[in-house]
Amino acid sequence: MLKGKHIILGITGSIAAYKAAYIIRALVKKGAEVQVVITPAGKEFITPITLSALSSNPVISEFFSNRDGSWHSHVDLGLWADAMLIAPATASTIGKMANGIADNMLVTTYLSCKAPVFIAPAMDLDMFAHPTTQQNLDRLRSFGNHIIEPAEGELASHLVGKGRMEEPDKIVATLETFFDESMTLKDKKILITAGPTYEKIDPVRFIGNYSSGKMGYALAEACAARGAEVFLVSGPVSLQAKHPSIHRISIESAEEMYQCAMDVFPSVDAAILCAAVADYRPEMTSAEKIKRESTGEMTLKLVPNKDIAASLGQIKMADQILVGFALETSDEVHHATDKLKRKNLDFIVLNSLRDQGAGFRCDTNKISILDQEGTLTEYPLKSKQEVAVDIINKLVSRLK
Ligand code: CTP
Repeated sequence: MLKGKHIILGITGSIAAYKAAYIIRALVKKGAEVQVVITPAGKEFITPITLSALSSNPVISEFFSNRDGSWHSHVDLGLWADAMLIAPATASTIGKMANGIADNMLVTTYLSCKAPVFIAPAMDLDMFAHPTTQQNLDRLRSFGNHIIEPAEGELASHLVGKGRMEEPDKIVATLETFFDESMTLKDKKILITAGPTYEKIDPVRFIGNYSSGKMGYALAEACAARGAEVFLVSGPVSLQAKHPSIHRISIESAEEMYQCAMDVFPSVDAAILCAAVADYRPEMTSAEKIKRESTGEMTLKLVPNKDIAASLGQIKMADQILVGFALETSDEVHHATDKLKRKNLDFIVLNSLRDQGAGFRCDTNKISILDQEGTLTEYPLKSKQEVAVDIINKLVSRLK
């Protein structure tokens, strides 16, 4: 996918700059031509000799050559590129890019670049979490730049948290997927349900569940990153949708989620039903706060909610794909097979609460995918972001 592609690799002043050497090697191995542009601070961390030897191209850093007065054209470079990748991207460079502070060759090249831009941040956890950095990243996202989220782990400071630049093989895989026409979701519309639903008992109490929404939001980001327009119908969660192509529709109850999903579904190519929908709601909702003194012992009568997945399965058109989830505690494959059929799903993502690191509130998940043809594919324990990619790869193959 990268054969013959022209890639500008921007390197900035971070400890992770050494990983840029691995990125160049992988890109060159896959047939890409790499032109390195490095900031003055970047050269403190890795030498241009290493980078030029690996890329077989002189490294560009300054606007002018001191020796002969020749100058590098950031405009030509920007036009030459099929993609620009900034890895590692420091908080400072991210800030300059977001605000057009073009005081070095890297940022001027970025501003001249018409090709898609990928940014792999690398910094300490507090710098990454700082509202300034997050706002700058949001701004870059809103310009259509692709942010390759940093991973969690040990940082150069020996603190542990989010801020470690993503591993070189994953960064290169992101570019490969982007250029792989067969993996794209461009021009596709995807409905995703995510999070829990809250079923109201009275103005201050509800029946809910432990769903954090992390899996659904990871799916939404991954679909949007592949070029899809995403309609994210979300129950109450503390997460935010970042990609500008995600339209978040916030709901609270299963009934609201049902109405929303039914409205949106006819206009989408696929729906992924990731929400932990409450199966029951209180038959009556009290308009006033229920008082202990006057109520005494209390019995709550529950009535079933509509099954959103099954309802969409009934109205599904031949060219639409419907994906469900099954979180089970026992007899997993049997229950998943039953749900697949009952809800008319194309495939179902199964996770078992018996597997450590799977299910609610975790950052990881261990899934199996069971499709209509009866094929069961098992995946190892992965981050929810990586799981989202596996699910979307399966979706893309069905959408063709
Ligand atoms: N689902 C839904 N609407 C509901 C209940 C579930 O859309 N009212 C969807 C979930 O989002 C998931 C799939 O159906 O994709 C399976 O959900 P699950 O709760 O495991 O299935 P249920 O049919 O509710 O079965 P049970 O709770 O008895 O296991």
